[in-house]
Amino acid sequence: MYLERVLCRNFRNFKELMLDLNPNLNIFLGANGQGKTNFLESIYLMATANSHRSSISSEMINWQQNKSLVQLLLRRREGKIKLAMRLEKNNKQVEINDNPLDKVKELFGYLNAVLFSPEDLKLIKEGPSHRREFIDLEISQVSPYYNHLLSKYDHLLSQRNKLLKSIREGKSKNREMLPVWDEQLATIGTKIILKRIEVINKLKILARLSQRKITEGRENLELEYDTSLNHFSPKMGEAELRNLFIDSLISKRDQEISRGYTVIGPHRDDIILRVNEMNLRKYGSQGQQRTAALALKLAELEFMKSETGEYPVLLLDDVFSELDGLRRKALINIIADKIQTIITATDGENLSGLKNNSYNVYQVKKGRIKKRVN
Ligand SMILES: Nc1ncnc2c1ncn2[C@@H]1O[C@H](COP(=O)(O)OP(=O)(O)O)[C@@H](O)[C@H]1O
Ligand SMILES: [Mg+2]
Repeated sequence: MYLERVLCRNFRNFKELMLDLNPNLNIFLGANGQGKTNFLESIYLMATANSHRSSISSEMINWQQNKSLVQLLLRRREGKIKLAMRLEKNNKQVEINDNPLDKVKELFGYLNAVLFSPEDLKLIKEGPSHRREFIDLEISQVSPYYNHLLSKYDHLLSQRNKLLKSIREGKSKNREMLPVWDEQLATIGTKIILKRIEVINKLKILARLSQRKITEGRENLELEYDTSLNHFSPKMGEAELRNLFIDSLISKRDQEISRGYTVIGPHRDDIILRVNEMNLRKYGSQGQQRTAALALKLAELEFMKSETGEYPVLLLDDVFSELDGLRRKALINIIADKIQTIITATDGENLSGLKNNSYNVYQVKKGRIKKRVN
């Protein structure tokens, strides 16, 4: 799939921007603070129904305005799709081919995009929430049903937490209500865990291949789903896992009431990354961690292709110049002429290896973007 056109009206520092993109490679050059990341954000927003920077719509609206519009013309195998998002201070409205959707989340599944930015090192180095977000966004993009499960789970979780708090504060005698919530949380939570494991099993093969390629066979990357449920085994089926989930909740009853929140479940799980059997987060070198971040992104591209039949759009924010020779080569090989790529950089110096096929170059300056004649 590829984007034919992007329109941003009063989005961040763009007043009125309309750009036609190259189906292959698009290079955006500009000094810091000019709008390069803003431009990528307007696209990623439509793939994930949210911004990677903030979930507050009002921050994306131009400071001098009170509403904003992002519109994309997307070309998929089935045909053209027009996606639009209208932002107001406390409201977000999305449209597909000019038809408003009931919920913003229904945007999932139209545009698939993979974003690789310097922030992605957090995926490796920081806490579990970054890895959960990674896997959840990845699956949501190809499976709107999974996103629906996540929303349902979040809702159940917050209701159950409210109940736990009220029991802790002695306000509620509703302790006998807990088993009902356990059942519901376990039903949905089990489906989420199983889907994550299924996807990680696919991703880990792809990520391992990428890591080996980038390091010329020296590093074996492994991914493992790490669940907060006691006595978990990856071979368990849905019914067995659901029972285990309920038993685990019961075994944590006193702890949960004294803390006032749910201490186990997919919202507490993690993905462990290892290189040559060593925990990457704890012991990996900066170089190994960077390589793994890239390997995961490359795996994401292939995973989405295998799920949807089409490569997603690849957004590279300021990362290319940081990559060394081998990592750069791995990236160029996968992009080739088959993935629409939108890349930002402060200068074009290191980008020559990319320009084997057709490409456009744009200059970004103070919220204006001009296509260069190349
Ligand atoms: N809501 C907004 N309205 C107007 N300008 C904004 C808004 N949000 C951010 N900006 C401006 O956008 C610029 C940052 O753009 P960004 O795309 O991050 O730069 P870069 O080109 O370095 O990636 C800053 O100068 C900031 O002042
Ligand atoms: Mg930037």
